[in-house]
Amino acid sequence: MDWWRQAVVYQIYPRSFADSDGDGVGDLRGVISRIPYLAALGIDAVWLSPFYPSALADGGYDVDDYRDVDPQLGTLADFDEMTAGLHARRIRVIVDIVPNHTSNRHPWFREALAAPKGSPARNRYIFRDGLGPDGAQPPSDWVSLFGGPAWARVPDGQWYLHLFAAEQPDLNWENREVRDDFTTTLRFWSDRGVDGFRVDVAHGLAKNLVEPLEPQAGMKDPIDGALPPGTHPLWDRDAVHDIYAEWRQVFNEYDPPRAGVAEAWVHPSRRPKYASPDGLGQAFNFDLLEANWNAGEFLRIITDNLSDAQRQGSSTTWVLSNHDGVRHATRYGLPPEEYRSRDNARKWLLSGGTSPRLERGPGLRRARAALLLVLALPGSAYLYQGEELGLHEVPDIPFELVQDPAHARSRGAEKGRDGCRVPLPWTPGGPSFGFGPGAAHLPQPAWFGPLSVEAQDRDPASTLVLYRQALSWRHKLQTAESMDWMPSTNGQVLHFARPGGWRCVTNFGPGPVPLPNGTVILTSVPVEGNQLPADTTAWLLSS
Ligand code: GLC
Repeated sequence: MDWWRQAVVYQIYPRSFADSDGDGVGDLRGVISRIPYLAALGIDAVWLSPFYPSALADGGYDVDDYRDVDPQLGTLADFDEMTAGLHARRIRVIVDIVPNHTSNRHPWFREALAAPKGSPARNRYIFRDGLGPDGAQPPSDWVSLFGGPAWARVPDGQWYLHLFAAEQPDLNWENREVRDDFTTTLRFWSDRGVDGFRVDVAHGLAKNLVEPLEPQAGMKDPIDGALPPGTHPLWDRDAVHDIYAEWRQVFNEYDPPRAGVAEAWVHPSRRPKYASPDGLGQAFNFDLLEANWNAGEFLRIITDNLSDAQRQGSSTTWVLSNHDGVRHATRYGLPPEEYRSRDNARKWLLSGGTSPRLERGPGLRRARAALLLVLALPGSAYLYQGEELGLHEVPDIPFELVQDPAHARSRGAEKGRDGCRVPLPWTPGGPSFGFGPGAAHLPQPAWFGPLSVEAQDRDPASTLVLYRQALSWRHKLQTAESMDWMPSTNGQVLHFARPGGWRCVTNFGPGPVPLPNGTVILTSVPVEGNQLPADTTAWLLSS
């Protein structure tokens, strides 16, 4: 029943995974063609980022129709074939559900634009009159996460709320019709055999819409814990859990119950509610996305999240990379600074990858060590496509080819997230390194060739082979969700034991340390003798 608790989930960004028809955009038949690859990797589930009809104002997170496949990506029949093919290889399927906003091409939004003020069609969204004598000022000071005001004006003078791009109008979750439509969608995919849902912006649905709208200026982000819980007008309000309680009932209509994982950027003390068995069941822990390569930071994050998960009755999730951030091989190859590695990486991106200097080799070495560390921990691990190839972020996409709305909306203050969404290299050459028969929708750098699947397949020291070995060992060794820290005399070394004699030791320091006793079964880079080199993880079995 609880297959998800310690599952390894591989995130597919469908438009950049594999392209079967040469139009430059990945598709579901591309995924089908790579099922043997996914099976050989040894994952337990895939999570597909949105494949729904979309104009791609936000990489597919602007959904035109929640119950269909984008014609460029395939058909519902392809989806069914993909699901059956994955299930036949014992790989579960998680789909992304985007409830905070539709796209501006969704039939409901078109209807709302055509309908008068105060109409039921407008009430599915958040329309308000503006402020000032002629209503020319937005209804509140709320800002879009992609930059600029969160309100856009329509021809009759009203404004609608969009916490992301203007093409992503926010839904009104106080409206029963909206709620019912989403449970219809959950059943639609569950009936097709989908095993779970990743819930986009899960902390955003319930808003304080009482007039006058509460100002946001000067208000802290709810994530830093400075606000009394649940008091922000837009984020992480308690009422959101009523929605997930309803969803849980839908999930539990199925056998096994459908799983849920919340993307909730909330204070850790607020995560348990999202992850509760009466709610979505699991919530992402994004702490490692923001952490530096540092033993102390990892220690704190691991300890805190394991104890949080225990309190909430869920399992924690480990995420090193996803489609929204700079790949971790790159983060770990940038100079450590006082600020968080994510911010460091953003600056590097804006410089086109020139400053500060990226140390590609050490970055990848640490990424491999980090992987073995997180795969040895209790809980589930979410891998992002391409990390198994040791890909670095692509920093030099020409500005005129950037697709991510965060770039334009922030007026260039952000480069955007395209650098981790560049189509995967499958072969050392060809028009798109084997991504498809044609070109790729984002330019791929020349250094993708030697990192392609085909090139790494043959190389026993490759990152791809390391992932396969690690996942295969993990399957054999994974037991109860517990771990014990082992004494370590060196603050740069983390060493822990899982039940059954499985041990993991990571050396974050600059020089070698003695390997603890035990039989070494896997190391993140080749290790000789009984010293564990810098930036290396070893898995051992107690002898
Ligand atoms: C989530 C997604 C991100 C998207 C945003 C708006 O944070 O992960 O890619 O831009 O939601 O839907």
